[in-house]
Formats: sequence, C-alpha cells, structure tokens
Amino acid sequence: MTSAVTHRRLGRTDLEISPIGIGTMQMANRGMVTAAYPSITADASAAVVRAAIDGGVNWFDTAEMYGRGESERALTTALRTAGANPGDVLVATKWAPMLRTAASIGNTIDTRLAALQGYPIDLYQIHHPYGGFSSIPAQVRAMAQLAKDSRIRSIGVSNFSAAQMEQASAVLATYGLTLASNQVKINALHRNIETNGVLAAANRLGVTLIAYTPLESGILTGRFHDDPQAVESLTRVRRIAGGFAKKVTQATPLVDELRAVAKAHDVSLSQVALSWLVTYYDDTVVAIPGASKPHQATQAAAAMSVQLSATERAGIADASRRSGAL
Ligand SMILES: NC(=O)c1ccc[n+]([C@@H]2O[C@H](COP(=O)([O-])OP(=O)(O)OC[C@H]3O[C@@H](n4cnc5c(N)ncnc54)[C@H](OP(=O)(O)O)[C@@H]3O)[C@@H](O)[C@H]2O)c1
Repeated sequence: MTSAVTHRRLGRTDLEISPIGIGTMQMANRGMVTAAYPSITADASAAVVRAAIDGGVNWFDTAEMYGRGESERALTTALRTAGANPGDVLVATKWAPMLRTAASIGNTIDTRLAALQGYPIDLYQIHHPYGGFSSIPAQVRAMAQLAKDSRIRSIGVSNFSAAQMEQASAVLATYGLTLASNQVKINALHRNIETNGVLAAANRLGVTLIAYTPLESGILTGRFHDDPQAVESLTRVRRIAGGFAKKVTQATPLVDELRAVAKAHDVSLSQVALSWLVTYYDDTVVAIPGASKPHQATQAAAAMSVQLSATERAGIADASRRSGAL
C-alpha cells in the first residue's frame, strides 16, 4: 500500500521526488567502489525495490561506477520484477569521469541507456569533479547537449564544491537549463555543507542536495552500539573507510539522542535520523539511504511519515554537535 507522501521539486525542474529515494550501490557485486558491501541477490534487490515503492519512495539512485553498470542493470531488473514500469518511478544515474574526456558523455550515453534496460534517465549526474581529462565547463556542456537532445531529463553533479556548483549553473544557464542537484555526503554526523558554502550555494541557486551515506553506513541506526562486535563482521573496506569503530564511538551522544526520540515516537533510530535529515534544511536536502534488506527500505520510506517537533530537531542538532558533526 502506497502511503501519501508530500513530494518536492528536484531543483527547479518539473520533476517531483519523494524526500527519500533509495541508493543502490548495494546492488552491484563488483568493483572498487562497491567493495564495501557484500553482494545482494536479484531477489533481494526486487524485494528492496518493492518495499521502497510500497512505502511511497518514487526514485532510485544508481551509477555507472557501481560495478560498471551492474547496479543499473540490477536496479532496473528489480524494478521490472517488482512491477514498476518505466515512468512509474524516477531513475537517477551518474557518468564516471575518471580518466575520460567530456566526449565520453555523449559517446557512452547509449551504453548507459542499455544498462538501464528501457528505463529513462530522469537525472544524469557527473559523479565527481576530479579525475577527468576535460574541464568542468566542458563536461557540463556535454551534459547540456544530452538534455537538449532529450536523451536525459535533468542534470546534476556529485561531490561538487560551492564554486563548482556556481560554475556548472552558469554554463547551464547559457543553454536555458538549470542545475538540478548536487549529491554529497550529509548526515547528522557529517554536516560540513553548513560550513563549506555548499548549503548556501544550493539555496542561492535553487539546487537540491541529495544526501548520500545518510545513515553513516548504518552507524546512525544504533546497531553497532547495540552490538559492538557487529563491526567485525563488516567487509574490510567498510571497516577501514573513515575509521568505522572510531566513528561508532564518536557517534555515541548522537545515537543516545536518536534513541530517546525514537522511543518517544515508537519508531526506529534510522527513521528519526532520516526524518531529521530531510527536514532540518527545509526542502533543500533529500536522502538516498542504501538498503540490502527489504525491512531497511521499509524503514527508510516510513521515515517520511515521522513528524519531529522543532524541539526534537534542535535536540538532535545539539547532540550531533557534541558528536563532532560541526
Ligand atoms: N555520489 C557518491 O559519491 C556516493 C558515495 C557513497 C554512496 N552513494 C550513494 O548513497 C547510497 C547510500 O549510501 P551508503 O550506502 O554509503 O550509506 P548509508 O545509506 O548510510 O548506509 C547503508 C547501509 O546501512 C545499513 N542500514 C540501512 N538501513 C538500515 C536499518 N533500517 N537498520 C539497520 N541497518 C540499516 C545497511 O547495512 P547492511 O547492508 O550491512 O545491512 C545499508 O547497506 C549508496 O547506495 C549510493 O547509491 C553515493
């Protein structure tokens, strides 16, 4: 059963998205980028997608870089299995700039669309601002051409600084287009958008910020506080990336606060953490939690129904500061 969820505009486009989408790095089973998560099966992917859609999620984020198209294929296979046809939900994917020129954007679009198996690209993002052989303006111009040719519906970036967002927006304006989004890491333990100018730039330019790693890789669900030994069962890449165990300790004041609020609402910590994230910055921030099990997608979607009071939001923001988020 689909719950009533208030949608938001993606940037200044005419696309309407739920405040929570689902990230699908977990659906790729190979490659450096995805080595943090163990493989999930096609059946598990379909169950995750179905649970998310049933909860009111209307978009999914993937990328070429997640297993060289494997996540794109797994997502769209899962969508079809789950009975969601092209156009029923929105799909965001990303071009990988590493060691490529801007010409690769036009040259590889057919490969991306093939990997998406008939699902259109509603949002096409430049995965990161580094590692490519062409300038950001050249890459953005190639993206603009795809939009002008109706191969993609909107243009976003990822891991861009405030200055790079300004640069991308200025280039798109010359085509009569806007920058829809910047996908960056944001969560209650990681709030540097407030100090590095990205939040201010997003508000100035009308750009939606898509929060990746919104649960700090599961730490904000409280499960590693409940069972500290669980850290040992994670993949080595996930444990080592960013010093996982140290982050669990750092997050303790925040997790304690999330736990208290979750108890008051009779919901999970993940729901509180996600609800805080998509409301604390008004409508500017939306989130794409990853899910490897259907109940995680169910909880992510249900976060959209949690109504935190202003006092609760401020209490979480304070605890987040005590955990060193700013
Ligand atoms: N643009 C970029 O550069 C970039 C970078 C990183 C990620 N991303 C995107 O952002 C998405 C999300 O980021 P992320 O996967 O790094 O981090 P995340 O969303 O913070 O964490 C996801 C993990 O948290 C655990 N989890 C989720 N819900 C849970 C629940 N209700 N209860 C207990 N555990 C739960 C699961 O771990 P288990 O699987 O171990 O159960 C899940 O795989 C990715 O899928 C990817 O699409 C983008």
